[in-house]
Amino acid sequence: MEEAFSSTFLGDGVMDKLKQLHIGLSLSATWLKGDGWRDKDSRVEELFMGDFYVDLAKKAEKAKLDFVFKPDALFLDTKVLDSSPGWSSLDPTVLLTSIARETERIGLITTISSTFYPPYIVARQLQSLNWISNGRAGWNIVTSLGGVENFMAGEMPSSQERYAQAEEFHKVVNSLWDSFPGLSLLTNRKTGHYADHQKISTIDHVGEFFHVEGPLNIPSYQSHPLPLLQAGASPSGRAFASAIADAVFAAAPDITAAKELRNDLRAKAQQEGRSEDAIRILPGLYFFLADTREEAFKLHARAHANLSKEKRYETVQTILGLNLRDMPLDHKITADLLPNDDVSVRSQTHTNLLKNLITEKQPTIEELLSRPEVVGSGHWVIVGTVEDALVSIEEWVEADAMDGFIALPGGSLHSLELFCDKLVPMLVDKGLFRKDYSGNTLREHLLIDNQ
Ligand SMILES: Cc1cc2nc3c(=O)[nH]c(=O)nc-3n(C[C@H](O)[C@H](O)[C@H](O)COP(=O)(O)O)c2cc1C
Repeated sequence: MEEAFSSTFLGDGVMDKLKQLHIGLSLSATWLKGDGWRDKDSRVEELFMGDFYVDLAKKAEKAKLDFVFKPDALFLDTKVLDSSPGWSSLDPTVLLTSIARETERIGLITTISSTFYPPYIVARQLQSLNWISNGRAGWNIVTSLGGVENFMAGEMPSSQERYAQAEEFHKVVNSLWDSFPGLSLLTNRKTGHYADHQKISTIDHVGEFFHVEGPLNIPSYQSHPLPLLQAGASPSGRAFASAIADAVFAAAPDITAAKELRNDLRAKAQQEGRSEDAIRILPGLYFFLADTREEAFKLHARAHANLSKEKRYETVQTILGLNLRDMPLDHKITADLLPNDDVSVRSQTHTNLLKNLITEKQPTIEELLSRPEVVGSGHWVIVGTVEDALVSIEEWVEADAMDGFIALPGGSLHSLELFCDKLVPMLVDKGLFRKDYSGNTLREHLLIDNQ
């Protein structure tokens, strides 16, 4: 079994025991953002080709990362396509199935919406990916940021309604996995018994959102549920995550936000009767790495080149319901300016992050317009050399702000290469990351059965 802790000293010996990080790589082409795709070696023409992602997954596997992970959206903003690929992408589960055939150890986490898919199909697809990858599949269970127009008439359900449905969805999928346990397979050639049908049963689920009889028509790989990743940190999102998630993909722009989320989710997991270590907090780490700081800052600026001031004002208005266009840029935003009602249907996570910042720090409008929650997705951002990145990661480790992170490469493919080829080996040298895999499944990489 993998060592959960190493006794390597960090820097000046501030800590005597270090937790080994869990690291995943996002396969969403974040390095193409802004003008990044216009680089001659960006490989943007391969955006919808399997081999490109297989190359990336092999690189991540060589670095012994826990998993590759594919975020997803079920809608298309056509306006952005004039100047960038936006969110157009391959179906994540189909893509990861092809990667499964070309890799051996790395975990494969797909994104599937509990708001728009039928649970029977999802239970079956996930177990299929799990069998095809020999137990390496994981599920990022999302309630979706949008896309209602592609599935039904009417408005997007509120974040709370989506989580209520997600709870039932998750229960149905788990019951379907239990309905045909892998252990029911006997494959006894001598006696002619293929399976013990008494261990296979219907689920007869009749709920508010779903009617499903079952059983599922594929057995569960090793009779285990798949590891679950969750994102979304509103009160309903946190309640859902603390009850079911093995890991949380967190939008946490700074150590304070990450610690608040981590402490809260660990406490809530305990209230659910789980170990506090059963829920791993993995902030997104959006990095712009280059051989020099100057180059890294150029990459960062280029990634946001197309983000006009008007677009930033629009984002603030969507997230907070505040129109700041007519105020001077050095005007401080204070909590009393915030509307009382929640305006965001998409995600309360970003609304709450900005509300907390405004309450605690009263940023100027100029500062607000350059925040990660406004220019990006609210993730921790590192711009610099691999040495700079190491210092920042060590700070987060020392602060106990995370259990690992999900790498979101920014700026260029070279930035991703520096991450896998240089930064990860530095983390290994510091005792913060594994030298080699000791298990074969995603459950083993995430140490799920150690809790
Ligand atoms: C960091 C983060 C990543 C997310 N990734 C996805 C995604 O890949 N696909 C998707 O449909 N929704 C995604 N979501 C949306 C959530 O599943 C959820 O629907 C939304 O955040 C509303 O929940 P909240 O109010 O708790 O934020 C993401 C949300 C966050 C905060």
